[in-house]
Amino acid sequence: MTDVVIARVLHVLAVVIWIGGVSMATTVVLPAVRRGELGEKRLPAFQAIERRFVWQARAAVIVVGLTGFYMAWRLDLWERFRMAEFWWMHAMVCVWLLFAFVLFVAEPFILHRHFGRLASARPEVAFARLHRAHWVLLLLSAVTIAGAVAGSQGWSIF
Ligand code: HEM
Repeated sequence: MTDVVIARVLHVLAVVIWIGGVSMATTVVLPAVRRGELGEKRLPAFQAIERRFVWQARAAVIVVGLTGFYMAWRLDLWERFRMAEFWWMHAMVCVWLLFAFVLFVAEPFILHRHFGRLASARPEVAFARLHRAHWVLLLLSAVTIAGAVAGSQGWSIF
């Protein structure tokens, strides 16, 4: 079972780096950027931080997915996806799919250009929307992490 322990360690480490970064962006970076505290040019200030973190987040999403499915396969946990008490297993996959879509499809192919245009024309609106989206993703992730840690110890709210 050493392999499952290693997979769990890597899974949680990657979650910490990834969602920790989302929390930092939501509660520290975006408020500072919106108030102009990192300079009046908000878009370049934000992009200088985002383009460094986005690669960490992408790598973490890959590690979390590989280790998560590996554990599910090794421990044969597929039945859990039929049971409501294991809602946190569904939540993990949903949060993962959501971020994978945002980081690998929406951000490089859609948001990058669209957001840049909106941020140049109406920075207040653009950064307010971006901040709101980050809050939603952070709250979903926090509920999922709490559910997964409690659920994998046998706790359930159902
Ligand atoms: C493809 C997506 C994912 C799969 C297949 C997956 C699968 C798993 C599995 C099988 C476990 C072990 C459960 C157990 O021991 O009973 C686990 C644990 C965990 N996962 Fe995921 N996961 C995924 C994504 C995520 C995401 C996106 C997060 C965070 C937002 C997350 C956070 C956690 C946490 C915190 C634990 C509990 C670790 C512990 O307390 O030991 N997982 N995951």
